[in-house]
Amino acid sequence: MEHDAEMASPISSDMVTAADDWAARDDFEDSPAESHAHPPAGAGAAAAVTEDEAREEAPPAPPSEDANGIESTLQSLELQPSDAPHNRVQIEAEERNRKRHLNVVFIGHVDAGKSTAGGQILFLSGQVDDRTIQKYEKEAKDKSRESWYMAYIMDTNEEERAKGKTVEVGRAHFETETTRFTILDAPGHKSYVPNMISGASQADIGVLVISARKGEFETGYERGGQTREHVLLAKTLGVSKLIVVINKMDDPTVGWSKERYDEIEGKMTPFLKSSGYNVKKDVQFLPISGLLGSNMKTRLDKSICSWWNGPCLFELMDCIEVPLRDPKGPVRLPIMDKYKDMGTVVMGKIESGTISEGDNLVIMPNKANVKVISVYCDEDKVRSASPGENVRVKLSGIEEEDIAAGFVLSNIGNPVGAVSEFNAQLQILELLDNAIFTAGYKAVLHIHSVVEECEIVELIEEIDLKKKKESDPKKRKPKKKPLFVKNGAVVVCRIQLGRFTLRTEGKTIAVGKVVAVPPTGISTFKA
Ligand code: GTP
Ligand code: MG
Repeated sequence: MEHDAEMASPISSDMVTAADDWAARDDFEDSPAESHAHPPAGAGAAAAVTEDEAREEAPPAPPSEDANGIESTLQSLELQPSDAPHNRVQIEAEERNRKRHLNVVFIGHVDAGKSTAGGQILFLSGQVDDRTIQKYEKEAKDKSRESWYMAYIMDTNEEERAKGKTVEVGRAHFETETTRFTILDAPGHKSYVPNMISGASQADIGVLVISARKGEFETGYERGGQTREHVLLAKTLGVSKLIVVINKMDDPTVGWSKERYDEIEGKMTPFLKSSGYNVKKDVQFLPISGLLGSNMKTRLDKSICSWWNGPCLFELMDCIEVPLRDPKGPVRLPIMDKYKDMGTVVMGKIESGTISEGDNLVIMPNKANVKVISVYCDEDKVRSASPGENVRVKLSGIEEEDIAAGFVLSNIGNPVGAVSEFNAQLQILELLDNAIFTAGYKAVLHIHSVVEECEIVELIEEIDLKKKKESDPKKRKPKKKPLFVKNGAVVVCRIQLGRFTLRTEGKTIAVGKVVAVPPTGISTFKA
C-alpha cells in the first residue's frame, strides 16, 4: 500500500472540509440539481488558460485576458531586482502595506448575466475604454447578439462569443478603495460544471447572479438548473461569503419590481440556509442591472428604484470580511496548471502559509525538492505571497513534465500527506435515477485542483442527525454498517482513489486500479 500512497493524489484531512459543514446543518430537505458522478468528457482541472496560451506569454502574464480589449489597462510587469536581498522583515513590511487581495467567483445559472456583470465592473472601474466597447457592440451586432457586448469583455474566445456562453473561467483584476480583486467568471452551462468547480475552488467570496427576468429565475432554481448546484458547490469548495445579486432588474418583465425582488429573496433564503450559509452573517442580497451598470459602482438613483436604500455592489465588495488565513501555517499550494518559461512555472491559490523568493519547498506526492526563483501575483512580480493569493511561482529543480494538476507545493518540514484511501462523511444529495448508494459506487472526486476517479469501497456508518450523539464514547453502541443508503442520507464511507473503468459501446468491460509505482526517492515521476 505504500506504493499506492505514492501514486495517489495528495489529499490530507485538512483539505477535506465539506463534511464538517454539512454535519452542522439542521435541514437537509433541499437537494441540488445534479449529481457529479459522471462529469462530461473533458472534465478536469480546467484552468483559465491552456498550456499553449500560457507558453506564448513571456514573462508569465494573466490568463484569458483579451489582447485587444483590456491589455492597455494591464499594468506592465514591474520587475523588481530579483537579486535584492532576501530580507524577511522588509518582505513583511511590504506585505502590510499592500492592499488586501480577494478572489471573487461569479456563479449562477446559464445566461443569468455573470459575464455581463463582470464586464461592467471592469468598464466602471475604468479598465475598458469606450472605443473597445463600441468595437464589441459592433461585433455583437454582427453576430446578432446585440445585448451581449458587455459579456464580450469577459468572454474572450470565438466559441464563447458565437454561442453567448462562457466556457473557460474568465479572469480579470480590479481594485476598490481597500481591496485588490481577481474576478473569476465561471460558466453557468451544466456541461462546464468542472470548469466552474475549478473557478470556485480558487475563490474567497462568491457573487451569485440570479436573473429576475420572468421565467429565468424559475428555470435556474428548479431541478436541473444550476443555481442550487452552484451554491452547494461554492459552499463545499470554501466560498465563505456570498453576495446574491438579483440581476436584470431593468428588464421589461421586472421593471425594478419590489415584489419580484422579495419573491426571489424569499425563495433563496431557506435554500441558502440549508446549504450551510448563515444568511444573516454570510449572505447579502442586492438588486442590480449588470447590463446598464445600475447599483454597481454608485448607489441606485431613486428615480430608477424608489424602494432600495441599501448599498451598491462595489461598496459591499469593499467591506466584505473573510475569515483570516494563517500566513505562518504550513505552505499549501494545490497546483492548477503549469508551463515552461525559462524554468518551470506553477499556478494556483495559496491555501495556507507564505511563499517567498528563495524558499526551498517540496512538491507532493512526488517528493521533488524545488527552489522558488520568483513569485508573481496578478501581473506583478512580488517577493512573497500570502494565503488566498492566486500566484504563479517559478521553480528550479523540477521539469514541467514531472508536475500534474493536483500536486501540492508544500513546505519541507510538514509536507501534505499522500493517501490512496480515506474516510469521509458524505451527504447524499441526488443520485442519478434515484439509485442507491452502495460499496462499488464509482465517481469522480474533485478536491482543490485534484480530479480523480474514485470508488466507494465500504459504507461505515449512517448518521442520524436528528438523534443526539452520545457524548460518552463508552456508552456509544457500535453501529451496524449499512449495505446501502438513499438520497438525503448522511454516511461515513471509505473512498479509494485511482479506480477506473474501461467502457466500450456503452458497456463496462473492465475495472482497474493504477499499479505503476514511482521509484521511491526519485523526483521524476510521470503523472
Ligand atoms: P453563461 O456564461 O453562459 O453562464 O452566461 P452569463 O451568466 O455569463 O450571462 P451573460 O452575461 O452572457 O448574459 C446573458 C444574456 O443576458 C445577455 O443577452 C445579456 O445581455 C443579458 N443580460 C445580462 N445582464 C442583464 C441585465 O442586467 N439586464 C438585461 N436586460 N439583460 C441582461
Ligand atoms: Mg458568462
